[in-house]
Amino acid sequence: MSTGEPIHVSVMPDEVIEWLRPDAGRVFVDGTFGAGGHTRRLAEKVGPTGRVIALDRDPQAIAAGRTRLGELPVDLVHADYRDIPSVLNDRQSGRVDGILLDLGMSSDQLADAQRGFSFQGDGELDLRFDPTIGAPAWELVEELSAEQLANVIYQYGEERFSRRIARRIVERREKQRIRTTSQLAELVRSCVPRSRNHAIDPATRTFQALRIAVNDELGALEDALQFAPDVLKPGGRIAIISFHSLEDRRVKHAFRDDPRYVVLTRKPVRPYEIEIQRNSRSRSAKMRVAERAAISS
Ligand SMILES: C[S@@+](CC[C@H](N)C(=O)[O-])C[C@H]1O[C@@H](n2cnc3c(N)ncnc32)[C@H](O)[C@@H]1O
Repeated sequence: MSTGEPIHVSVMPDEVIEWLRPDAGRVFVDGTFGAGGHTRRLAEKVGPTGRVIALDRDPQAIAAGRTRLGELPVDLVHADYRDIPSVLNDRQSGRVDGILLDLGMSSDQLADAQRGFSFQGDGELDLRFDPTIGAPAWELVEELSAEQLANVIYQYGEERFSRRIARRIVERREKQRIRTTSQLAELVRSCVPRSRNHAIDPATRTFQALRIAVNDELGALEDALQFAPDVLKPGGRIAIISFHSLEDRRVKHAFRDDPRYVVLTRKPVRPYEIEIQRNSRSRSAKMRVAERAAISS
C-alpha cells in the first residue's frame, strides 16, 4: 500500500452518517479504519469537541492514515477491533455514542500484490490483515489435511467443489510447494467450472475462505457482537457493513436475539444503484444498525 492517495472508496458513506448520527461532541469508534473514508466523515461531523477512535489491524493502513488526517479529532490505533474494550479502557473514555464496523478487506489491500489478497496479480499467498502476527495462508495450504482444507473452503467459502479443490491441493503440494496467489488461483480454476456468465472468477470463494480463516474474521465479529453493548451508551448505535452471508447472518441473529440490542433496520440497508455503478465493490454490501437498549437497573 502506498502512502499516497488511497484507492478504496467507502461504501454507503451517507447512509452511515444518517444512521449513526454523529452530532457535534459525540465519541465514535471506527473498528475498521481502512483508507479512513468513514472515519473522516465521522470526525468532520463530531468536530473538535468530539472524537473518533479508529482501529485497524493493518499497520500499513494506520501508517498511511497518520499522514492523511491532518487536524481532525481522530485517535488512530493499530489494534484488532476485538480489543475495542481495552483500547477504550486505556483511554479512560467510558461508553461511546457509536461503533462502525465495515468488514473485510480494503481496495488498497487488494491492489497490493505483495499482500496476497488478489488472485489477479501474483504475490506470496499471505492474506493477513496484520502481516506481523499469525501464519500466512500458504502455511495453511501446506499443513492442513485434505479434510481440514475442504472444511475451511466449504464453511468459509461456501464452495461446492471444496473436496475436489482440497484433494488437488494435496496432490500438487506433494510435488511442488504452493506459495503464490497465482499458483493457487490456477489450481482452483483447473478444478472448478466457470460460472455461466463468467462474472465470478472460480478462485473467489477459495480465497475468501482462506482469508476468513487466516484472520479469524468470524471469531472477531462474534466477539464484537458480544461486547458492543457493554461499550455503547444507552441509545448509542452500532452499524455493521458486511459483504457476504456468513457475516450478515451473524449480525442479523445477534441483533435480533440479544435483548441488549434494539434493531433499527428490519431489512439491511443496501446501496443505491447509482453507488453500485460507481463502485462495484458496494454491490454485495449490507448494513445493519442496532441501538443499545436502555440499561435496566
Ligand atoms: C473494508 S475496509 C474499511 C474501509 C473503511 N471503512 C474506509 O472507509 O476506508 C476493512 C478494513 O478493516 C480492517 N480489519 C479487518 N478485520 C479487522 C479487525 N478484526 N480489527 C481491525 N481491523 C480489521 C482491514 O485491515 C481493512 O483495512
